[in-house]
Amino acid sequence: MPRKTAGKPLWASIDRYFGDLLAPSDEKLEAAVKANRKARLPAIDVSPLQGKFLQVLIQMTQAKRVLEIGTLGGYSTIWMARALPKRGRVISLEFNPRHAEVARANLHCAGLLNRVDIRVGPALESLPVLNASGAGPFDLIFIDADKENNPHYLQWALKLSRRGTVIVVDNIARQGSVLEAKSSKPDIVGTRRCLEMMAAEPRLCAVALQTVGVKGLDGFALAVVLR
Ligand code: SAH
Ligand code: DHB
Ligand code: MG
Repeated sequence: MPRKTAGKPLWASIDRYFGDLLAPSDEKLEAAVKANRKARLPAIDVSPLQGKFLQVLIQMTQAKRVLEIGTLGGYSTIWMARALPKRGRVISLEFNPRHAEVARANLHCAGLLNRVDIRVGPALESLPVLNASGAGPFDLIFIDADKENNPHYLQWALKLSRRGTVIVVDNIARQGSVLEAKSSKPDIVGTRRCLEMMAAEPRLCAVALQTVGVKGLDGFALAVVLR
């Protein structure tokens, strides 16, 4: 069996194969990726299959209100907004005004801006505002911003949830760096702390899964709120 295909790791080629079958790109997604690269945003958007995975979760749970923490250029937002029913909404929090601007343009081009509300600012400032305005509870919450704040984001996700809310935390393996128990790097500390909280939290039933694909070795945590 070949270990590499055309110089790429085998799993990248398998991810490409699955993706082309089950999460094929289209004009709008392609345009968003192109705009993100042209604006020199970091190439850390979810992969097509991860976008499709979020869609499957939204359909499974019949989610109508989605909260995203970390918009970047709105690539994941497009996938999620597309899975929502007509009156469904995504609120997406983004720190960088330039990222938010690119995301708004991408969502506009994709015909989805009417379903998405991008709030610019540090998420830890936007979340209390959201909470005070009675925006919750959300049906699905996708945490994908600065990993050092994941413990705080998890707390806010719980506050903004109900029984049955699904919480997804992206990038929990990061090429294995999550194993560095003694690390003082804020993103590793934040990721590990978040996982520990998920394990210990009686209101959550949580799992962590590693993934290999076009973004290399990574993973996500998936939890459902029990009460
Ligand atoms: N969900 C996107 C990728 C998000 S990348 C996708 O898959 O397409 C992470 C984003 O989080 C970046 O745009 C970064 O600017 C943003 N971010 C970083 N720190 C933040 C903070 N404190 N509050 C809100 N957003 C933040
Ligand atoms: C990084 C962030 C992400 O959200 C991601 O999906 C991949 C990498 C990063 O900060 O390196
Ligand atoms: Mg991510």
